[in-house]
Amino acid sequence: MAVPPVIVAIDGPSGTGKSSTSRAVAARLGLDYLDTGAQYRAMTWWMLNNGIDVRDRAAVAAASVKPSIVSGTDPLAPTITVDGTDVSGPIRSPEVTAAVSAVSAVPEVRARITELQRSIAAGAAAGVGIVVEGRDIGTTVLPAADAKIFLTASPEARAARRSAELAGQGGVAGADVSATREALARRDAADAGRQASPMAKADDATEVDTTELTLEQVIERVISLVEQRRRRES
Ligand code: DC
Repeated sequence: MAVPPVIVAIDGPSGTGKSSTSRAVAARLGLDYLDTGAQYRAMTWWMLNNGIDVRDRAAVAAASVKPSIVSGTDPLAPTITVDGTDVSGPIRSPEVTAAVSAVSAVPEVRARITELQRSIAAGAAAGVGIVVEGRDIGTTVLPAADAKIFLTASPEARAARRSAELAGQGGVAGADVSATREALARRDAADAGRQASPMAKADDATEVDTTELTLEQVIERVISLVEQRRRRES
């Protein structure tokens, strides 16, 4: 008997293991995968590349209809293009990381990207199902998701993981854990404090604190939560 499709929302701040966990869970369960942070980063990359002042909310709102952002949803090889250009490298630059919270706080940007996310999820719901990772997936984008998980970790653990990641990408900032910790705290405050769909745990999401867990333990925990949900619904 075919397994019914399942929609999994994984939210939380960066440095909690969200991306690695979401990709691995999707790959092991045979589901599609969508990195919604990459979509906000792609929008931000386009704004910077086109000389839009990201502090000018009206300019960002007006320009947000222009770029065509396309996400590939294979968890083993996720892709992201803007107007046909592969931007998977450039969207991780420090310039984009510094500007993405401002761009993603603009309601018109969120409305456009939310619509994209819902249409990708609807396509996956007609097929195998999908793991969608972000900040507001369980609360706003897909409130009817079958399973909702909110990942957290201590500020120290998150800063250490993020620095290691940056060092792996050859970033100079990778060595400086305390600067990374401050940058993460600033981005969290902006993402959780904005008016339009702030980062938040949905009331019916399960919180998993990853501070003391290995990546493998987090993946297993999330898979077991998804399987529980599936059993309850079948
Ligand atoms: O997950 P990430 O660090 O690549 O996300 C980049 C930024 O995008 C993050 O600082 C906030 C924003 N974002 C958002 O506002 N809503 C989402 N669903 C995902 C990301």
